[in-house]
Amino acid sequence: MRNFKALALGAAFAAVASASDVESLTKDTFPDFVKDNDLVLAEFFAPWCGHCKALAPEYEEAATTLKEKNIKLAKVDCTEEADLCQTYGVEGYPTLKVFRGPENISPYSGARKAPAIISYMTKQSLPAVSAITKDTIEDFKTQDKVVLVAYFAADDKTSNTTYTTVAEKLRDTYLFGASNDAELAKAEDATFPSLVLYKSFDEGKSVFTEKFDAEAIEQFAKTASIPLIGEVGPETYAGYMATGIPLAYIFAETPEEREELSTKLKAVAEKHRGAVSFATIDAKAFGAHAGNLNLKADQFPAFAIQDTVNNKKFPFSQDSEITAESIGKFVDEFVSGKVEPSIKSEPIPEKQEGPVQIIVAKNYDDIVLDDKKDVLVEFYAPWCGHCKALAPKYDILAALYVDGGFADKVTIAKVDATANDVPDEIQGFPTIKLFKAGERQIRD
Ligand SMILES: *[C@@H]1O[C@H](CO)[C@@H](O)[C@H](O)[C@H]1NC(C)=O
Repeated sequence: MRNFKALALGAAFAAVASASDVESLTKDTFPDFVKDNDLVLAEFFAPWCGHCKALAPEYEEAATTLKEKNIKLAKVDCTEEADLCQTYGVEGYPTLKVFRGPENISPYSGARKAPAIISYMTKQSLPAVSAITKDTIEDFKTQDKVVLVAYFAADDKTSNTTYTTVAEKLRDTYLFGASNDAELAKAEDATFPSLVLYKSFDEGKSVFTEKFDAEAIEQFAKTASIPLIGEVGPETYAGYMATGIPLAYIFAETPEEREELSTKLKAVAEKHRGAVSFATIDAKAFGAHAGNLNLKADQFPAFAIQDTVNNKKFPFSQDSEITAESIGKFVDEFVSGKVEPSIKSEPIPEKQEGPVQIIVAKNYDDIVLDDKKDVLVEFYAPWCGHCKALAPKYDILAALYVDGGFADKVTIAKVDATANDVPDEIQGFPTIKLFKAGERQIRD
C-alpha cells in the first residue's frame, strides 16, 4: 500500500515535470542531449537571478511552440552544475547559447520574449536560403514579419553566391528564400536577378531595383524592413541606428496621441521614405531621450530629427504646433540641408584660468582641431566619481607641460560632455583621447 502510494505520487510528479517542454539538464545528461538533437537552445541560469525569472514563462511558451518544429529548449542550473557552466564559458545569467551538435555553438543574440525566441530559432532551423517554388511561396511569406525572396536564373552562379553570402551574414535577422522560376518572379513584379522583401505591415512588399550586389542588398533589407512609422524602444533602437539613415522621432505620452500623430504625419514619412526614418517614441517612458536631442524634456508632443551617423540633432521648435504642414516643411528643409544642427554648448570661458584648457562645443574646433599641437582631451561628466578622482592628477599633468614650457606644443584639455555636443563617440566617463599634431581630420 505504501509502495503503491509512493509510486502514484512519483508518477504525479513525473507528470508535472513533463508538463514543461523545457528540458532540465545536468552534466550527465547535457552531452547526449546536444548530440541527439540537431538544434538546441540552452539557457544557463541561476535560480536567484531576476532576468532569469522574467525569462522563464517566455522560455516555456517558446519551448512549447518550437517542439513541433523539433527544436529543443533546455536549461542548466549553474548553482548546481558549476563545472558544466564553466565549460561553456558562462559569465552572467541568463546566458543563452545555440547548439548545433556538441561542437557548433553560437551565442543567442535575439530578444528574450517568446515571439522573438520562436522567430530566431525558426530561422536557425532553416538553411540560410530556402528554395522557394510557386507552391511554397505563400506559406513562406507568412513565416516571419519580414522575409526576403531572391529571383535569379538557375545558371546565374554569381547572383546565387552574392545572395547566399548576405543570407549567411544576416540569417539571425531575416528569413531568406530564393527561386529560379521566371514566371513566379514575373507574378511578384521582379526580374532576374532581383529580390522582393515581404512584410506583414505597411504596403506588404518592397521590390529591390538596384544592382544585385551584397552591400546594396543588405542596405535594402535594413531600410525596407523598417515600418513606415515604427516605434523607437530598447528592442528597435539598434536597428534604427544600423540603417545609417536620419531618424525622425515623434515624442508623445499616450498611445492614442502617438497613433494620432502617426496618422497625421504618414504622408510626410512616405514622401521621405529611404531618406528619413520616422518613428514614435513613448515620452512617458523615454522622455529623457528628448534632452539628448536638445529638446526640452518636459514638453510633449515634440519632434526632432537625429543624423544617426554624425550624431547631429535637429529639434523642431517646441513653440510650434506639430501638423502635417509644419513638419512637412521642416523635413523638406532638413533633407535639402537648410536646417542647421542644434549644438548644445556652455558659453566659451572668458579666460582660460588653469593649466587644463576648458573646451565647450563652441570652441571645440579652435582647440581640438589645432593641428600644430598634440591635444589630450578628457571627456567627463559632472556626476562621475572616477572623473572627480582623476581631476587633481590631470591638473598636475597639465601644469607639468605648461611649467616645462611645452604649452605651444601640447594642450591638456577637458570637456563636460553632458553639457556640450561633441563629435566624438563617448561610451563612458571619463574618456580620454589624444589628437596628435599633423593628423587632424577636419570635420564637416
Ligand atoms: C544556389 O546554389 C546552390 C549550390 O550550388 C544550389 O543548391 C541552389 O539550388 C542554388 N539556388 C538557386 C535558387 O538557384
